[in-house]
Amino acid sequence: MTQEKILVLDFGGQYNQLVARRVRECNVYCEIASYKTPIEKIKEMKLKGIILTGGPNSCYEEGAPTYSKELFELGIPVLGLCYGAQLMSHVLGGKVERAANREYGKTKVYVDGEKGIGGLFEGIPAETVVWMSHFDYISKIAPGFEILAHTDNCPVAAAGCKAKGLYAIQFHPEVLHTEKGKEILFNFVRKICGCAGEWRMDSFVEHSIKEIREKVGDGKVLLALSGGVDSSVAAGLLSRAIGKQLTCVFVDHGLLRKNEGDDVEAVFGPKGNFDLNFVRVNAQQRYYGKLAGVTEPERKRKIIGEEFIRVFEEEAKKIGKVDFLAQGTIYPDVVESGLGGESAVIKSHHNVGGLPDFVDFKEIIEPLRNLFKDEVRKAGLELGLPEKLVFRQPFPGPGLGVRIVGEVTEEKVRIVQEADFIYRDEIAKAGLKKLPDQYFAALTNMRSVGVMGDERTYDYAVALRAVNTIDFMTAEAAEIPFEVLQKVMSRIINEVRGVNRVFYDLTSKPPGTIELE
Ligand code: XMP
Repeated sequence: MTQEKILVLDFGGQYNQLVARRVRECNVYCEIASYKTPIEKIKEMKLKGIILTGGPNSCYEEGAPTYSKELFELGIPVLGLCYGAQLMSHVLGGKVERAANREYGKTKVYVDGEKGIGGLFEGIPAETVVWMSHFDYISKIAPGFEILAHTDNCPVAAAGCKAKGLYAIQFHPEVLHTEKGKEILFNFVRKICGCAGEWRMDSFVEHSIKEIREKVGDGKVLLALSGGVDSSVAAGLLSRAIGKQLTCVFVDHGLLRKNEGDDVEAVFGPKGNFDLNFVRVNAQQRYYGKLAGVTEPERKRKIIGEEFIRVFEEEAKKIGKVDFLAQGTIYPDVVESGLGGESAVIKSHHNVGGLPDFVDFKEIIEPLRNLFKDEVRKAGLELGLPEKLVFRQPFPGPGLGVRIVGEVTEEKVRIVQEADFIYRDEIAKAGLKKLPDQYFAALTNMRSVGVMGDERTYDYAVALRAVNTIDFMTAEAAEIPFEVLQKVMSRIINEVRGVNRVFYDLTSKPPGTIELE
């Protein structure tokens, strides 16, 4: 694909994926790579611009992440942010020092230069609020640079060398607290780097279809379809590209939410509107058999994962030789597994491990590898997937297996499916201003005595969970109006056989996890 590209060179800062997202919001494609990427590779990338991210180090210390001067001599515009700004100044002959006090939080910045057409601060008010987070500061700008902005505490909030297209910004334009951050990045990417801004989802879909066709030829592709957003969008895209050369295997492990298996089949099965081979494996009883008597959470996860591989393997054998195995990997998976950048966080339990090992295939195809989640959703809509599927809540691979504390049985699955269905239904009806980021019902392993009519009962307690979170790494319990909770409680007790108590889980993460197990 020949397209305009910006490179975000990662120095280990916490907002690096955000920088990339903001660039893409300017309709310019961009990728994240480690600061260790060799200059030859950078030259080959045919970049329109480079952005150096923040990072936790001091650039003047020995062993701190750095880059050679050559990077600034490629004739490609470079924007340094925070650590990146300091590093640029340091490498090009300016001076960076430790400040007496850390400048942190929302800060007023005064714009001193480049306010005119084509400048970094075109259209930005003379005074604006930005997000600062730094100890070190640029005490002397590099030769050829001029100061473009300052704050009450920081003499160089921004500096630039227009002739070479080099810019250093001490604050973080990528975070929303910087009022005009998006505009400043837009000015850099679209005006200074001169990108036309043609990166859009319709063009992505079109390009990808062409690419997939070229790569696959008349080969066969196999995809494990979970019904989640990523694998569904991958299925939609592959189907549009290669039709019946694609086979999707959907394993119903009996731990899906109510009606979910049928919903997936309605979209991708023979009655849906995607051209592909759809194989649904109803493995419910097989899973319940394997899970009988197992109470230890890790063991449950393992059994569910292993059984998935086994079922998938059997199906793959029936299909015979496949040429390509497709996966719904998305960009955060790539970056988080340390391949795309510096800020590696590995969430192994979120990956489907070991999948490729046993299917005989030539190559892996990951058509969504370069997309962020919101872009995957846009692509899904573009491909005509139903909104219900595209905006689905996160759902763990082990499914209801981790929402049922203790042994998993068919009876418990029924209870949690029914309760969860009612909860989601009532939340949808409640018309909340903001939906919690994730909400579901789970089944505690607690049974207690109650009365129902004239009879004593000895039934289960259902736990309702609802959390607000930005990145799912930390989370707070959401405030659901009491009347809504009461309504949910009364419906669950009345409509779901086997439940006589309903709890609301107030735990935050940490110390809790979002799921119950
Ligand atoms: P926890 O419970 O770890 O969940 O706080 C964080 C987020 O990740 C989802 N989750 C999983 N997703 N396989 C997945 O694909 C898993 O094993 C898994 N466990 C948790 C969970 O739904 C939440 O959004």
